[in-house]
Amino acid sequence: MDRTETQPADGRLGVLLPGFGAVATTFVAGVEAARQGLAQPLGSLTQLNTIRLGKRTEGRAPLIRDFVPLAELDQLVFGAWDPIPDDGYESCLAAGVLSREHLEPMEEFLRSVKPMPAVFHKDYVKRLDGTNVKSGATKMDLAESLRDDIRRFREEEGCSRLVMIWCGSTEVFLRPGPVHESMDAFEAGLRTNDPGISPSMIYAYAAIMEGVPYANGAPNLSGDLPALEEAAREKGVPVAGKDFKTGQTLMKTILAPGLKARMLGIEGWFSTNILGNRDGAVLDDPDSFKTKEESKLGVLEHILQPDVYPQLYGDLYHKVRINYYPPRGDNKEGWDNIDIFGWMGYPMQIKVDFLCRDSILAAPIVLDLALFLDLAKRSGMSGIQEWLSFYFKTPQVAEGLYPEHDLFIQHKKLKNTLRWIGGEEPLTHLGVEYYDYE
Ligand SMILES: NC(=O)c1ccc[n+]([C@@H]2O[C@H](COP(=O)([O-])OP(=O)(O)OC[C@H]3O[C@@H](n4cnc5c(N)ncnc54)[C@H](O)[C@@H]3O)[C@@H](O)[C@H]2O)c1
Repeated sequence: MDRTETQPADGRLGVLLPGFGAVATTFVAGVEAARQGLAQPLGSLTQLNTIRLGKRTEGRAPLIRDFVPLAELDQLVFGAWDPIPDDGYESCLAAGVLSREHLEPMEEFLRSVKPMPAVFHKDYVKRLDGTNVKSGATKMDLAESLRDDIRRFREEEGCSRLVMIWCGSTEVFLRPGPVHESMDAFEAGLRTNDPGISPSMIYAYAAIMEGVPYANGAPNLSGDLPALEEAAREKGVPVAGKDFKTGQTLMKTILAPGLKARMLGIEGWFSTNILGNRDGAVLDDPDSFKTKEESKLGVLEHILQPDVYPQLYGDLYHKVRINYYPPRGDNKEGWDNIDIFGWMGYPMQIKVDFLCRDSILAAPIVLDLALFLDLAKRSGMSGIQEWLSFYFKTPQVAEGLYPEHDLFIQHKKLKNTLRWIGGEEPLTHLGVEYYDYE
């Protein structure tokens, strides 16, 4: 692909959030806290990370945000949709991620973000009831209504550009079918209310048709459909997904490449979680859990390559459980028991107990995706942005390719893409340049 000159990040960038629950409100509150100087945007590469350029001896390692033109936090404005009508402040309180003491100085700002009526249907998220919902005779009418919302928001907020990040609930498991194969079939399905088209797909469609970059933070298909990928490419819209890589899967993609790098075998990997937030309640429904489970299970298979290393990973037993346990709220606990074996087959065990805060890990991902997708659009990139795989449990890839799950390969790819966007040489695995000290 030819490199085009990146357009400057002038004006306001609207960040549109279908789903205004724990992750989305923690993201918005954190950006505002950073703007008010109350907290630092920790966990965000766009805000904190440097990037090494050229040879080590050159000593060039600017901040990413000084190297490529990214929107500043002060340029961000937020819009949302949610079937639950709570404003940003109420939704933050309900999510219970951030304390009242942190939220108080931002109350007025958070109250000003009120979710628009959502495209929502209980068939796709069974454990939720919503009142703030659009009505329309067909799914195409609902898509048109979303497109009107997008245009109105852009106008009213005076935005130069928009991005959309799905932070809505995990929908029931759906397989791609004929209705998702082409834009003609998809649009016909919208007009005839095809049950294969879920609300998150309607948001992805509306975004792409409006030229708005789209990322999917949940494991449901949403924009991961041949029809929408093709439309994104044709319309010059960058897209990425699926399922934010936080918590247990983040740990898995840190540990598994390390064990594999040392050629240690793995006999079994048992992962279990307790969580008590609204996401946990939704995942308590077997159909939504199935979508999540598929997303979590794929990771090890791709990292460990059991077909290449049958003696190490050929018999690996991988199990993932998620248990809804209300007392824990958003503070998930994830246990991993890993049965490994080494020299002469002697067994060993690793136990991980991660007392994690899901939304605290997810919020900086939303910020980075918003800023990087906007950068991609201004750099003339379109279709699936594989370099953003770093942020996802189930990276979206073009048909026929396998996803890259290894966090360190993903990280290298992300930074090399930034180097390419900025007109610098990529760092390769050759000679003394192998190690990327940054
Ligand atoms: N927190 C994490 O670390 C993490 C990691 C990976 C993926 N995710 C996914 O991100 C999503 C958000 O997580 P969360 O913890 O904020 O959940 P949450 O339940 O707090 O928020 C989701 C919100 O989406 C809303 N919603 C549902 N259907 C919608 C629709 N059709 N349109 C608009 N809004 C809709 C719900 O009413 C809810 O307010 C979930 O799908 C979750 O699985 C979260």
